[in-house]
Amino acid sequence: MHPRLYIPGPTEVADEVLAAQNRPMIGHRSGDFERLFYGIIAKLKPILLTEQHVYISTSSGSGLQEAAVRNGVRPGRKVLNMVNGAFSDRWQKVAAANGCDSVRVDLAWGQPARPEEIDRYLAAGGFDAVAVVHNETSTGVMSDIGAIAAWVHEKYPDVLLLVDAVSSASGVRIPFDEWQLDMLLTSSQKAFALPPGLAFAAVSDRMLARAKEVPHRGWYFDLLELEKYISTHKTTPATPAISLLYATDLQLDRILAEGLEARWARHQLCMEMTHAWAEGHGFTLFPEPGYESHTITCINNNLGIDVAALVAHAKAHNLVIGNGYGQLKGKAFRIGHMGELAPIHMEELFEVLDSFL
Ligand SMILES: Cc1ncc(COP(=O)(O)O)c(C=O)c1O
Repeated sequence: MHPRLYIPGPTEVADEVLAAQNRPMIGHRSGDFERLFYGIIAKLKPILLTEQHVYISTSSGSGLQEAAVRNGVRPGRKVLNMVNGAFSDRWQKVAAANGCDSVRVDLAWGQPARPEEIDRYLAAGGFDAVAVVHNETSTGVMSDIGAIAAWVHEKYPDVLLLVDAVSSASGVRIPFDEWQLDMLLTSSQKAFALPPGLAFAAVSDRMLARAKEVPHRGWYFDLLELEKYISTHKTTPATPAISLLYATDLQLDRILAEGLEARWARHQLCMEMTHAWAEGHGFTLFPEPGYESHTITCINNNLGIDVAALVAHAKAHNLVIGNGYGQLKGKAFRIGHMGELAPIHMEELFEVLDSFL
C-alpha cells in the first residue's frame, strides 16, 4: 500500500482516476477533444455553482492567482490583498510581481479576513478588486466569503471579488453566482482529488467586462483569450494536459455521483471528527473559533509534543500528516481531511496518532 496522504495537497487520487490518464492521446483541435472539453466544462459549472464562465488552465492554482490580478485590475487602480497566511502572502506577491498596485493588509495568522476590515481600506477609494483566500491552507482558517461579498457589493458595487478557493472548492459550498463573486480559482490536487497540474476557475461576466478595460493582460492567463477559444474554437489556446483532462472527466462524474450536499457533509463530518480527536487529547485549535476550515485542521502544539516525531510515527505507519507551515513548524501540525478521505480513514489515522501519544 502506498503512503496515504492526509496533507493539504496533493491528496489521495482514486485508482480508477489515476488509470484514466493512460488513455491514448488525441489532438486538441479535434472533435474528440471538443467533446471531452465541453463535457468537463458542463460538469464543472454545477460543482463550482455557476452558470457563468468556467476555465481550465494547464497550470497549478498560482497561475490563476496571476490571471485574477492581471485581468481584474486596470492601470492606475489598486487591488486590496488581505494577508492572513502563506498563500494570501503569495497572492499579494504575485500581484506586485505583475506590476499591480497592491495594498497589503497583514492580519495575524489564525484570523480570518473580515468585512469591516476590508471596508476600512476600500473606503480610501481607487480599488478595482479585493483578493481574499477562502481557505488559508497554512493556518486552517476559512473566511466568511458570503459575508464579505454581501458587504462589498452593498458599499462598493464596482469592486470585484477575487477568491482563492484552492483548498476548499468542491469540499465546501461556495455559491459563486448567489454570492456574486467575480473570480474563484482552485487547483486540481486538493479537494477535487486529482493529480496536480490543472487549475479551474469560475469567472463572472463582470470580470470579463473589466478585463476588456485592461490593456496588458499577458497571454497565457488572458481570460478573454481563453473565452474566445472556448466559445469560437471549442478548445484551449495552448496545448492542454490531455491526460489530466481524462482523469478530470472521470473524477467530476464521481463527484456528481456522490452528490454535492453529501460531499460537503462528508468534509464537515471529517472536520468534526478531527476537532473531537484533538480536543479530546487536550489540544487546542489554531484558528479563531468559528472560522475553522472544513478541509484542513491546524492543531496547536499546546501540549509540547515533538511534532516532527509525531509526523515520522505516522509516516512509519504509511500515513502522511503535515507539520505546521512556515513559522508554525513545530508549534502546530495539520491534518487534511479532503478529497477522497472519509470517516473510516480518519479513524485509522487517529488510532495511529493515539499510539504515539
Ligand atoms: C490556499 C492556496 N492558495 C494557493 C496555493 C497555490 O496553489 P498551487 O500550488 O496549485 O499553485 C495553495 C497551495 O497549497 C493554497 O493552499
